[in-house]
Amino acid sequence: MKYMDMVVSETLRKWPNALAVDRVCTKPYTIEPTMPGEKPVHLEKGAVLFLPIFAVHRDPKNFPDPERFDPERFSDENKHNIKPYTYYPFGVGPRNCIGSRFALLETKAVFFHLLLHFQFVPVKKTMIPLQMSKKSFSVTFDGGLWIGFKRIKE
Ligand code: HEM
Repeated sequence: MKYMDMVVSETLRKWPNALAVDRVCTKPYTIEPTMPGEKPVHLEKGAVLFLPIFAVHRDPKNFPDPERFDPERFSDENKHNIKPYTYYPFGVGPRNCIGSRFALLETKAVFFHLLLHFQFVPVKKTMIPLQMSKKSFSVTFDGGLWIGFKRIKE
């Protein structure tokens, strides 16, 4: 189950369901520079901010070799290297996803039962490598996602 958790976490890094979360600024605020050469960013009340989950998860400064699917990023030895607020498939703060624990439990339960009986195999329609659709703001794939289930003999 530990490895399952690592695989699910890495899947949500590479393929977060939501591309971004948004927030509305409720009072004027200035983000002060933290690095040499940066300028302050002034936010007005009412400004809408987009926090791009997909881009942050694929930034090599946050996740080296970001295109590589590597569950080891989330191992007990490595996960403390993940910088705060660089991994947020369920959003952030008090309005983050209320269903996150249920979603993770459900996903693991489904895959546990499927993997007990089936091997997942590529089929003719399986897209390798996976290419995200450019027609939508959500993470979707033109032609759908296809995978074969091969029953494991008892
Ligand atoms: C892998 C599955 C899921 C992912 C990746 C996901 C992701 C998210 C994200 C990114 C947000 C926005 C959070 C923010 O703005 O900071 C959100 C909000 C929300 N999610 Fe999920 N979600 C998942 C499953 C679920 C499930 C199963 C439920 C309900 C059973 C659920 C209920 C909600 C609700 C009610 C909100 C709005 C929370 C609020 O505005 O206070 N989600 N989710």
